[in-house]
Amino acid sequence: MRLKDKNILITGSTRGIGLAIAHVCAGEGANIVIHGTNKEKVKDIVNSLQQRYQTKIVGFDYDIKNYDNCQNLVKDSINALTSLDVLVNNAGITRDNLLIKMTEQEWNDVIETNLNSVFSMTKAVTRPFLKQKSGKIINMSSVVGLMGNAGQANYAATKGGMIAFTKSIAKEFGAKGIQCNAIAPGFIKTDMIDTLPDDYLDTIIKSIPARKLGSTDDVSKLVLFLASDESSYITGQTISVDGGMNI
Ligand SMILES: NC(=O)c1ccc[n+]([C@@H]2O[C@H](COP(=O)([O-])OP(=O)(O)OC[C@H]3O[C@@H](n4cnc5c(N)ncnc54)[C@H](OP(=O)(O)O)[C@@H]3O)[C@@H](O)[C@H]2O)c1
Repeated sequence: MRLKDKNILITGSTRGIGLAIAHVCAGEGANIVIHGTNKEKVKDIVNSLQQRYQTKIVGFDYDIKNYDNCQNLVKDSINALTSLDVLVNNAGITRDNLLIKMTEQEWNDVIETNLNSVFSMTKAVTRPFLKQKSGKIINMSSVVGLMGNAGQANYAATKGGMIAFTKSIAKEFGAKGIQCNAIAPGFIKTDMIDTLPDDYLDTIIKSIPARKLGSTDDVSKLVLFLASDESSYITGQTISVDGGMNI
């Protein structure tokens, strides 16, 4: 059991990559905090994980666009599990549009959900992590944060920002036993990708050396490694899981 007795909070874990991370980590002995915006969905996921795994599974619904909600999510998680070892900043959205048509609302929604939440959540775990002299923060960035993408200026700005944030946190807290790394997935089969037109996806797949989309498990297994003691000398890195898309 690579994560036995570790306590892991995964934002946006009611579906997609976040849910896959919850399964992989619980299967390796971790206690898990499930999180999303929908109370019923959170409850259903908690119940189904509780039936499958022997570890402690709890869940909270909070909109992480709001700073205070993030502080409360961390507080509730620590109250429920007594401490936190790993924070996975995974929740994210897209509001794609060409810049010429992009509304201020589309820009702000993505910045608040994808980037402001990473600041708020990371700030909330900092004091407990400093006190226990350990903690791992894993930020779900994107290949788009490394390469940019037409029609995703808002999303790319958040994902690139997460990478710079990751490096800064690694430098600020490296000597205090806190690690911070980012993952840059390519195109992974989830609800987020389901919204893209088929012909656009076909073009994307042709540009990927592996010639296929990634699976949620491709990403969750890297999270498992980064959350485990095996990654103890890795910090400030952005690791791609993209079938070679960004080489
Ligand atoms: N799929 C890809 O190809 C891909 C590629 C690169 C990076 N990523 C990144 O990986 C992460 C997960 O992506 P995914 O494809 O698994 O997404 P997804 O299937 O759309 O799931 C998104 C998750 O985030 C939660 N969420 C969204 N807005 C929230 C908010 N304001 N407050 C709280 N929770 C919120 C959702 O909760 P609700 O169910 O309550 O809405 C859901 O659990 C994202 O950061 C995404 O940018 C994905």
